[in-house]
Amino acid sequence: MKRTQVAIVGAGPAGLLLGQLLHKEGIDTLILERRSADHVAGRIRAGVLEQGTVDVLERAGVASRLHAEGLIHDGVEIGFRGRRHRIDLKALTGKSVTVYGQTEVTRDLMNARAASGAPSVYEAEDVALHELGESSARVTYWHQGVAHEVACDFIAGCDGFHGVSRRSIPTSALKIFERVYPFGWLGVLADVPPPWKELIYANSERGFALASMRSPTRVRCYLQCSLEDRVENWTDEQFWDEFRRRIGEELAAVVPTAPSIEKSIAPLRSFVAEPLRFGRLFLAGDAAHIVPPTGAKGLNLAVSDVLYLYEALSGHYREKTASSLDAYSPRCLRRIWRAERFSWWMTRQLHRFTDDAFGTHMQQTELEYLFESQAAQTSMAENYVGLPFSGYGEKW
Ligand code: FAD
Ligand code: DHB
Repeated sequence: MKRTQVAIVGAGPAGLLLGQLLHKEGIDTLILERRSADHVAGRIRAGVLEQGTVDVLERAGVASRLHAEGLIHDGVEIGFRGRRHRIDLKALTGKSVTVYGQTEVTRDLMNARAASGAPSVYEAEDVALHELGESSARVTYWHQGVAHEVACDFIAGCDGFHGVSRRSIPTSALKIFERVYPFGWLGVLADVPPPWKELIYANSERGFALASMRSPTRVRCYLQCSLEDRVENWTDEQFWDEFRRRIGEELAAVVPTAPSIEKSIAPLRSFVAEPLRFGRLFLAGDAAHIVPPTGAKGLNLAVSDVLYLYEALSGHYREKTASSLDAYSPRCLRRIWRAERFSWWMTRQLHRFTDDAFGTHMQQTELEYLFESQAAQTSMAENYVGLPFSGYGEKW
């Protein structure tokens, strides 16, 4: 039987970043990923990085392309009733955000992993976790028709919402908190220069729209859509026509009907599983929690979990005590719940909810208050740029 110190399940941003941080600390890891490397590298997802995320990527030694190609944004706009209101992130908080796609973060991390020589197994089938409560855990999997077994000190469950890790914890040992929203986001990627300078989150009577970008020549846009909607129901022309109706007249006049290079629908959900630890298994990222994408917290939260898990594991190997491991879940949950609150709040204020006249009034009142009150803008801005990380060993 092979042996490693930390078996990491999942090669999304959480698993790859954890692998990189632990490798730099001299801790052995094995990454097991269900999909092919090409599939992982090709997924289009989030696009906005908090400064804290950029700092962690720097610490992992994978930020040089990010610094060369990432776009620094000092503000973000909220569209409402045909007008746009700018939230000046930099003036209100002293911080900015960086627009750099998750696809690029993943590519940088995959390259760093390959260069480090640390092992990854892509297309690992039937990954199963064993003996989580014992003095040593085990992971089994199949690869190219051969069964494998690996003994390890710890397992990092970084395998996303649909992964095997959270499902390996007895239901009696987990508390689940969940809210499912009655709509999804239809996303389109297109190679055309963005006609907007900063991201625009638009609340329109026809539903939410988001104008984002990936680079000076590539836009990423989203529309609130019904859960029954299918990508095939939306031609590029229909997408951009609807986008123009929602984004406000001024921009509608200059938004082109660009051919899409990717189109997908994602449902919206808030979800937290507590605690993030069961014996030798530690959950991180989407395996433990989901936020609706409004506010761009999903990837950023995965990165803060990973930083905390890296500090917990390296602290354990350095100090030979259990205290850093015990602190992992409560330390994460404090930041997770704050990001859950902000994502829920952004979602609530910007989407169209049916049959809720009181809710519509509350939305209007919230947004008017936001546009008029610097205190409200500061609150939104400090959450959008990312709440501070707690220090290692700090009380929380
Ligand atoms: P993931 O990126 O999901 O990675 C998990 C990895 O584990 C995957 O590679 C998966 O193949 C692998 N895996 C799963 N099961 C197994 C198994 N049994 N064995 C081995 N490996 C396994 N966030 C935003 O902020 N903005 C967005 O616009 C946005 N859009 C999104 C669109 C979609 C369709 C999805 C699913 C998420 C989106 N998110 C967005 C959220 C953000 O992308 C995630 O928060 C982020 O990917 C979390 O990273 P992760 O590494 O924890 O999980
Ligand atoms: C993007 C996605 C988000 O969820 C968000 O809040 C901002 C930008 C994007 O994909 O560009």
